[in-house]
Amino acid sequence: MVLVNENFLSLPGNYLFSEINKKVMAFRSRYPDAELIRMGIGDVTRPLAKAVIDAMHQAVSEMSDENTFRGYGPEQGYDFLIKKIIENDFLPRGVNILPEEVFISDGCKSDMGNIGGLFDRENVVAVTDPVYPVYVDSNVMDGRAGQLQASGMWNKVVYLPCTAENGFIPALPDKPADIIYLCYPNNPTGTTLTKAELKKWVDYALETGSLVLFDAAYEAFIAEDTIPHSIYEIDGAKECAIEFRSFSKKAGFTGIRCGYTVVPKVLTVKSAANGKVCLNALWNRRQTTKFNGVSYITQRAAEAVYTPEGKKQCDENSAYYMKNAAIIRSGLKKIGFNVYGGVNAPYIWFSTPDNSGSWHFFDRMLREIHVIGTPGVGFGPSGEGYIRLTAFGSREDTIAAMKRFESWTL
Ligand code: MLT
Repeated sequence: MVLVNENFLSLPGNYLFSEINKKVMAFRSRYPDAELIRMGIGDVTRPLAKAVIDAMHQAVSEMSDENTFRGYGPEQGYDFLIKKIIENDFLPRGVNILPEEVFISDGCKSDMGNIGGLFDRENVVAVTDPVYPVYVDSNVMDGRAGQLQASGMWNKVVYLPCTAENGFIPALPDKPADIIYLCYPNNPTGTTLTKAELKKWVDYALETGSLVLFDAAYEAFIAEDTIPHSIYEIDGAKECAIEFRSFSKKAGFTGIRCGYTVVPKVLTVKSAANGKVCLNALWNRRQTTKFNGVSYITQRAAEAVYTPEGKKQCDENSAYYMKNAAIIRSGLKKIGFNVYGGVNAPYIWFSTPDNSGSWHFFDRMLREIHVIGTPGVGFGPSGEGYIRLTAFGSREDTIAAMKRFESWTL
């Protein structure tokens, strides 16, 4: 008889965005004529940049010719893309990354979910709260989270509350934490950490021997100079951090799938039997065994993001979304909501104006103004009483949604 991985059974019923989808489908079947505006999942709506499309066409042509056809590529990614990543995303910020430290993948979500496989079950995990659900759920699957409490917290996870009261800046853990997940610019709150604030985390990790898993999927939306784009802008971070990047939001690749992970060669963790072990070698071993690389066509598409036209076109799309963010921010503020984020990130986070729970307000928004948001509590207990809206919709929908909020009698 096959025994199941019991950890899966302790997960709550659905992944957050599947749960929302279920509710929306049920609403839709009851009210098929309702004109819904989707501001829930952070999925992009602008078409791919022309430079990206041209590169994909070119790559498809290469695949159709026996002289240029390519089969399996390197599991770690093609050199042409890795070189462009280093030259564009790191060198201009004074960060030297070696080609062997970059691993191209099918996106940040997969890597953030899979990285846990490298670590012992007994490690204590710390997460900011609210948090992107993948970090917690994947640790539940790995058996590292313990039991789910009535509070909505897992008893073995250290939660670092981020609320309006502390300006959404997490305090350093007050109990030992081995693996710390940080996502900045933050999903879901849309807030950021300055270099000085991020330095506290790097110093803490170096001092305590913990590891920071730094999700920088939203770095392309940073507008302010004081905000770091990479954790490696902080001295010493290569000895204590892995960084995850994504083309999903930066270049509209949510449906194409491409991202990358930087695992510095100087980064080590402890093995009871072997002393210090190099995480770069372990991740390489994991990827070569379980992953066959991202398609050539996709990697050529990602390479085109770094051409002058590609940069310009992708930046235009990011600016479009950030204009939406500004419209949402000012629209909600105008009607008296407490609004956060949306300046260096495409997410706007607001507290429910009637002090109701997140799901209650989510339901009201859906029922009364037909706008779909994401309930803050779905991201963790400290998200209770908040709602997240994304700026990734069309301009038309964004403006229409704000009009609906404005004329809504709460
Ligand atoms: C979100 O809405 O939080 C994101 O789109 C989810 C993701 O990037 O996987």
